[in-house]
Amino acid sequence: MSFARVTGTGSYLPEKVVTNAELEKTIDTTDEWIYSRTGIRERRVAGDDETTCDLAEPAARRAIQAAGLIPADIDLIIVATTTPDQVFPSVACLLQDRLDIHNGGPAFDVQAVCAGFVYAMDICNRFFLTGACSRALVVGAETFSRIIDWTDRNTCVLFGDGAGAMVLERSDEPGVISTHLHAEGKYHELLSVPVGVSTNYEQVLRGEAYTQMQGSEVFKWAVKALGDIVDETLASNGMSKGDLDWLVPHQANIRIISATARRLGMSLDQVIVTVDRHGNTSAASIPLAFDEAVRDGRIQRGQQVIMEGFGGGFAWGSVLLKY
Ligand code: UT7
Repeated sequence: MSFARVTGTGSYLPEKVVTNAELEKTIDTTDEWIYSRTGIRERRVAGDDETTCDLAEPAARRAIQAAGLIPADIDLIIVATTTPDQVFPSVACLLQDRLDIHNGGPAFDVQAVCAGFVYAMDICNRFFLTGACSRALVVGAETFSRIIDWTDRNTCVLFGDGAGAMVLERSDEPGVISTHLHAEGKYHELLSVPVGVSTNYEQVLRGEAYTQMQGSEVFKWAVKALGDIVDETLASNGMSKGDLDWLVPHQANIRIISATARRLGMSLDQVIVTVDRHGNTSAASIPLAFDEAVRDGRIQRGQQVIMEGFGGGFAWGSVLLKY
């Protein structure tokens, strides 16, 4: 049996850091409120001319280099993003051009907001299972700061920008073991940017396409859905809690992350946490955290890792892999 195995990871953060102390100067909030409710101390924000593809490109190049490949080796590109450079074409096609890849392999975006990376990994794995690719690049990249109202304290303290990437290659050694996706569209109004190309487009043109969230409702749902999905992931693989080495969660809120870790019987020492420094980077948060932990030596070859994400839609999912 062959697997899709992660052979390289990379990430990239924009240079500009916005601390809680800086937000205290512009909105009615405190570092104490933000940190105690979310675990966030600071976040990165893209420069005015910096696009999602600008963040995706260095992350992708680092992942390809870490895999010991060159861009031309990549025969599938999937970018998870909710904040693409353009309405179309996809960031994946823009990235394929930037990387000078001309082998005709498919390239497309996936939009599942904060669950985008696990959705992209699931789709990528299916390409491997059908033999349709052999060296894939999966990227999560966001300039979420562009769809935030920086005067709305309910949302602006939470989000940040960044990109993370993984290269997956066909291998006889275990890689992706299982993927699990879910959605419940009934709750689409609880977390959304309620304008777009076919709804109140004039607001988009005025630069007023802003994220709205009923935070405490989303919080309750996220804790339940993520608890259920980690149980589902273990049960469908006949695994028990002690079998996992690492949890790489979507980084929305340290309290949600801690609740999922408790459900898995894991201590926070076994959880990769970046929310304090990155905030919620939506589809980028999981590959950013994964890359950090690979590069600092925490995640080691042969270890079992569960990734999970939850976000607008609602859409959520998990990926179990042996690194
Ligand atoms: O990644 C996609 C998924 N997203 C999430 O998972 C986010 C889920 N939600 C959350 O993380 C939390 O619900 C929040 C961090 C957004 C909010 O925390 P909370 O403990 O649920 O607070 P709350 O919404 O119940 O608000 C409590 C109070 C409110 O004031 P009143 O109405 O009680 O007077 C808010 O107006 O806190 C107020 N508040 C703030 N105060 C200071 C809201 N934002 C702020 C702020 N600074 N930035």
